[in-house]
Amino acid sequence: MPLPSPLVRAVETLLDKSLVLGYSSIGWYIRQPWLPPSPEPGSLTGRTVIVTGASSGLGRASAAGAAQLGARVRLIGRTAARLEDAARAIRRSLPHADLVVDVCDVSDLDAVRAWCSTIEEPLHAIVHSAGIMPPERSESAQGHELALATHVLGPLLMNDLLRPRLREDGDARIVWISSGGMYAAPLTEGLVADPEYRHGEYNGTRAYARTKRLQVVMAQREARQLGGDGITVHAMHPGWADTPGVTASLPRFAAVAKPILRTAEQGADTAVWLTAAPEVGTGDFWQDRRPRSTDFLPWQHTSRELADVVWRYCRSAAGLDG
Ligand SMILES: NC(=O)c1ccc[n+]([C@@H]2O[C@H](COP(=O)([O-])OP(=O)(O)OC[C@H]3O[C@@H](n4cnc5c(N)ncnc54)[C@H](OP(=O)(O)O)[C@@H]3O)[C@@H](O)[C@H]2O)c1
Repeated sequence: MPLPSPLVRAVETLLDKSLVLGYSSIGWYIRQPWLPPSPEPGSLTGRTVIVTGASSGLGRASAAGAAQLGARVRLIGRTAARLEDAARAIRRSLPHADLVVDVCDVSDLDAVRAWCSTIEEPLHAIVHSAGIMPPERSESAQGHELALATHVLGPLLMNDLLRPRLREDGDARIVWISSGGMYAAPLTEGLVADPEYRHGEYNGTRAYARTKRLQVVMAQREARQLGGDGITVHAMHPGWADTPGVTASLPRFAAVAKPILRTAEQGADTAVWLTAAPEVGTGDFWQDRRPRSTDFLPWQHTSRELADVVWRYCRSAAGLDG
């Protein structure tokens, strides 16, 4: 991918650091002239893409985007009826879309194991969009804090169990849909000492940001672990998109920012692009089809030692070795 000119780089830095400009639809439109090219229609024909959280918002838009590129898409969520609604909506504009609806609660490690054991076809990509912002501390079926289980442990287990299926593709991609909110939660000793958020007053927004940071750390580690299998791993952030999740979890923000929120398709664009674009490398954190810094401020740089500790904790909590 060619490097943008110094002027474009300066504008990009301004957009990234201002938050409002970069994350809203304003940034989306400003960036259009220098956005790397879109994959060819049909470029995923004959390949299968899994999208979690596909019944709503960015997951649904990612499923539609992958289907538009010709992929067979497996839509994952907790409720069959909501997934069927999403599949029907996608088929209204893509009548020949090859869509499969699969119920699986990704926070439940037993459910993830059971569902993964049914997958026998080669896989090209997994897009992890399933997301929540719990109002109070609650726990998954295995007793893990729910945001951690949903955003980190279930996806980690799914990636590991489906590794043989991804390896068969030869150019497979894993995309973690993280959040710009992760900038508010650097990987501190406090976070690493208490990933299950057992101590201190629980705050759902904070739990969300912490686990979105952990997704970025997991993506970096998996990139190193899976590279030898021809699997690249990416984290991305969608900016601020108008989705049912944002309206339900952040109603005041959604109401005030409504005129400048991105559409779900704009928010999902980079996730879909990462499933098909050539030369995307591995282990980066993306927004609007460009790698971005993982730290908002230079001195917040993630320590390798803390990343090692939390990687080991999450793998072990997901029931994986080391
Ligand atoms: N929208 C934004 O501006 C924004 C910004 C930054 C990051 N994100 C990230 O983008 C992702 C999607 O967010 P969204 O705004 O599209 O939210 P959304 O409209 O609420 O969609 C969330 C999806 O996740 C699914 N889900 C939740 N828990 C699940 C579980 N345990 N197992 C399987 N599926 C589960 C929901 O399906 P069911 O309830 O039907 O199971 C739903 O399809 C999230 O990871 C979020 O952190 C969004």
